[in-house]
This record gives sequence, C-alpha cells and structure tokens, in this order.
Amino acid sequence: TTATVETDVLIVGSGPAGSAAALALATLGVPNIMITKYRWTANTPRAHITNQRAMEVFRDLGIEDQVLADATPHHLVGDTVFCTSIAGEEIGRIHTWGTSPAREADYQLASPCLTVDIPQTYLEPILVRNAAARGSQTRFSTEYLSHVQGDEGVDVQVLDRLTGQQYTIRATYLIGADGARSKVASDIGLPFEGAMDIAGSMNITFKADIAAYVDHRPSVLYWVIQPGSNVGGIGAGLVRMVRPWNEWLIVWGYDIGGPPPVVDEDAATQIVRNLLGMPDLDVEITGTSLWGNNEMYATHLQSGRVFCAGDAIHRHPPSNGLGSNTSVQDSYNLAWKLAAVLRGQAGPALLDTYSTERAPVAERIVKRANRSSREFVDLFVALGVTDARTEEEMVARIEERKANTPEGAAKRAALLKAMELKNYEFNAHGVELGQFYESSAVVGDGTPRPTPTRDPDLYHEASTVPGSHLPHAWVGDNVHKQAMMDLAPYDRFTLITGIAGEAWAEAAAAVAAELGVPLATVVIGPGREVTDLYYDWAKLREVEESGALLVRPDKHIAWRARTLPEDPAGDLRDALARVLSRA
Ligand code: FDA
Repeated sequence: TTATVETDVLIVGSGPAGSAAALALATLGVPNIMITKYRWTANTPRAHITNQRAMEVFRDLGIEDQVLADATPHHLVGDTVFCTSIAGEEIGRIHTWGTSPAREADYQLASPCLTVDIPQTYLEPILVRNAAARGSQTRFSTEYLSHVQGDEGVDVQVLDRLTGQQYTIRATYLIGADGARSKVASDIGLPFEGAMDIAGSMNITFKADIAAYVDHRPSVLYWVIQPGSNVGGIGAGLVRMVRPWNEWLIVWGYDIGGPPPVVDEDAATQIVRNLLGMPDLDVEITGTSLWGNNEMYATHLQSGRVFCAGDAIHRHPPSNGLGSNTSVQDSYNLAWKLAAVLRGQAGPALLDTYSTERAPVAERIVKRANRSSREFVDLFVALGVTDARTEEEMVARIEERKANTPEGAAKRAALLKAMELKNYEFNAHGVELGQFYESSAVVGDGTPRPTPTRDPDLYHEASTVPGSHLPHAWVGDNVHKQAMMDLAPYDRFTLITGIAGEAWAEAAAAVAAELGVPLATVVIGPGREVTDLYYDWAKLREVEESGALLVRPDKHIAWRARTLPEDPAGDLRDALARVLSRA
C-alpha cells in the first residue's frame, strides 16, 4: 500500500529557490511540503554574493537580522583584486558591489539593504529553519520521481531514500526548484534557449589564514591571471573568500572537451599554492568538486499547475553573482500569487503572470553573466598574454606594463579600459535591481516604461510607472525610521497616498471588503502614520499628493492614479480586479 499525503504546494528542492518558496508560503500561512534529495542543505559554499533585492526579500520575510548575523558585512566585500597571485603582482583593484564612493550613493538611495556575502552553506539553513518554524513540512532524503497533473491537483511520486519506499504527495500546485539539472522542468517540457556545459570549472575549498595578504584590501574575490587561467569557466582563476580570512574557495577552469581532471589532495594543494603564490603554504583542503558552466534559460516557466524556479529555469556562470539572488526572487514573485489563488482572492490566470514576468529576467541574467565571464578576455588582451606560450613569456608580458616605453604606455591605457569594463560584472546595479514587469498583474496608466538616462546595466533608475519596483526612501516619525518597503508588507496589497488623498482610505476599505483581498492604505504626511522625513518621497512618487500607488505584495507597482479621481473606489476596484485576474 502506498500512502497519499495532501498539501497545497509541494516544493522540490531546498536550495535558495526552494527554501525561499517554502519560507514565503509558510509566512503567508499556505500549507506546503518541501522535499529534497539529500540529507541536508548545500554541502559546498557555492553562491554567496547577496544583492540588495534578495536582502529586501529577507527583510520583508523577517529574517534580515539572521542573514546579517551570518554574513560577511558590506564593508568587507568590495576591494576586488586582479593579480598574478595573492602574494604576487597586483594588476589592479576595482571597488565592487557598490562599495566605490562614486557608486555607494546609488546603492544607498535604491534600497534600505546593502550587498553582503553569505555562502549558501550558511544561507540555506536560515531559510529552511525559518520555513520549518513557520509551518513548512520539510522532508530530507526524499526524491522527486514523477508527477501526473489532473484538474484538481498534481500527484507527485516521491521516494524516501532512507526506507526505499515510494509514496504519493497530492498537491494543488507543484514547484520544481530542483536546480540546473531539473527533472521537473524536463518532465513538463519547458522550452529552453542556449546550451549546457559550455565550459568546465572546479571548486576547491580550503583553510589557510592569509589575512596578512588580504585584510588591507578586503574583498570577496581575488582574480588570478596565470598560465591556464583563461581556460574553462568563469573568465580567470579565482580565490574567493568564504570566511574572512581563513576559509577560501578556489575556482579554476578545465577543458570540458577532455576527460574530467582528477583533483586529488596533491593536485588541489598545488592549485591552491599556485594561485596564492605561496609554494610552501600549509593548506587544509576541505573539498573539491567539478561543475559545468551553462548558458541556458527557459522561455516559459509553467505548465498547468507546475512551475519551475531558480537554476531550473536559468543556468549561467557565477559572474555578476546573480544565481542565488534571482532564485530567491523567483520564489518571492510566485508565492504570493499562489496564496492569492489558493484563497480564492485571485483568478488562476494570475499564475500565468509568473512566467510572463520572470522569463525575461531569466534571459537577461543568463546573457549578462555569460557576457561578463567572456569579457575577462579584454583583460588578457590588454596584458598581451592571450598568446603567451610559456609561463616566462606570460610574466614578461605582464611585466611590460611597467615599462617607460610607448608599448608600456599603450598597455597601461588598455588596462584602464579593460578594468572599466568589469563594472558590468561587479557594479551592474541596473541588472541587479532593474526588474520591470509587464503582465496582466500590472495595470498601466498609459505612461511608457521610462527610457533610461544612464546605462541600464550599470544604473538603476527608480520610477513608479506600473511594473516598476517601489522606490526606496526613508520615512517614519521622531522615534521610528522605516523604509518605504516596510509600509507594504508581503501579506497584503498596500495603497500609498498623501494627505490630500486621504479619501483613498475609505475607498480601499470598501474594495478590500468587496473583493475579500487584504488591502491597507498608508497616508504619508505630517501627523499621519508616517512622515516623509527627508522630503524624499515627494520627489520620488511621480503622482500628486492626492494620487495613489497600489503596491503588490512583492513591492512592484500594480497600478497608480495621478490624482484623486471622482470615484476612487470604482477605479481602485477595477484595477485590483484586473491585477488579480478577476475582471
Ligand atoms: P540548487 O541547485 O541550489 O538546489 C537544487 C535543489 O534541488 C537541491 O536542494 C537538491 O537537493 C534538490 N533536488 C534536485 N533534484 C531533486 C530531486 N529529483 N528530488 C528532490 N530534490 C532534488 N553561484 C554563484 O553565484 N556563485 C558561485 O560561486 C557558485 N558556485 C557554484 C558551484 C557549484 C558547484 C554549483 C553547482 C553552483 C554554483 N553556483 C554559484 C550557482 C548557485 O549555486 C545556484 O545559482 C543556486 O544554488 C540556484 O538555486 P536553486 O535553488 O535554483 O538550485
């Protein structure tokens, strides 16, 4: 006999996508089960750069403090170094992840959170722990085998890897957050563009205290240019901080066309010593693994009651640090929609907007990450080492940049340009934050999407045109300081207006009651819930004081009114009904 277990949402995978989905659903009170193949979460540090949007998700879900407590703080993440080895020649540094004085303002103006570094081995347990504490059923050592969809739900066949027993989980919806080799995605036949395993990388984790070489130039990433460093994966050899400054991860490429390299302890130790430039260093190798670099994204993310999220739909190198971040954000987009449909607050067509909104994001980040890893070539070209055949030749070419000759000067000028280009990998604020949604869950007001005034990959520009993310400003009162996002929590829609728009509150209450949808009004102004402390919000809102912004649970603007209309309740009702596919 096989048991059947029932739940609202079954999530396959406990990586950043799966555990964020479980946490978001549990936070909203939606019954869910999260299964995962292995006995615990990620066993290697893997993704680590945690950008502002992901931190905002954590803030919204009430775990920001826990993440910060385990993360390497913002001020230690950014002096990214390019060198011939950690102990060797430095070719240059670039302030990264918004730590440059010239960029820090952009980052601080855009979000209440800053980029930090938290390896997956630390992040996943926080997500899983909080999901479980809030009601998620978590099942480790449990493998997804197959599923069958019906009108009412999805019957999912799973295997308990401890007992060898199979059983069925009947869920209303299924989320495949089962990573780059997603079986769920292939079972529902998602369409993909691109290719897998286009280059090979190996990860080597090790312990060694090298503070003396790095703590004056604190960074998450030290890029090493040595013979062989342009082979395979991510553009160059990489020494990556896991914990400052005694736990590290090396990423080194290999030729994926050949047989997989054997990385035993001796080989790993040799690679570590080479990249550190410390031939006698005592190293403790703690792990090695091989992985493929991909350039692949799904162009559609759903089939009926089954959705995929995370690496299941976007597969790319770690360049730009987008993997885990985007995975978390996928689930954040999907979970509130599932909750709204399961509760009868929205029509099922709302769920189609997950794919409409997130597929373009998948394409954008996959292309950007691959382009960034390829653009490392410019650095090799600038140094003139692309055709160096021996180590001596490479050293000589790198040395040339010091020469007081026309060649030396040309090399220095070329380096300046090549370094500048790396901003598209390490300070791509527009890619990190500039997600704009066009779907039926956004009701436009006839204003087109704003044309960027600066490079849209490098710079994020705030807007309240429907589809945009709610701009950030600090508001509050003489005792509390709140971010704009704090006014619009994940478990409801929020209407934001000013004192001249106070009539919206009554309208919103009527619409909330009629549609049975959680919707609250926040009036910003002196003597109201919050004050525009710095007079920043008035400059950002792009509507009159009597106008209003309707903010979705995921902080995207669903709709806006420039001024208070004659029939605010009627207009708001129409807009919200359309957003929720109830019109
Ligand atoms: P993820 O792969 O994290 O999780 C998949 C989950 O599905 C796992 O919990 C697994 O157990 C489960 N699963 C799979 N099949 C299943 C089945 N049939 N049944 C049940 N469960 C199943 N990114 C980055 O930014 N910087 C980096 O340095 C690295 N380094 C790196 C190294 C290695 C070795 C890999 C493989 C990947 C990286 N990445 C990375 C990428 C990053 O780890 C990735 O983007 C995120 O983990 C994606 O999160 P997901 O939750 O989508 O998948």
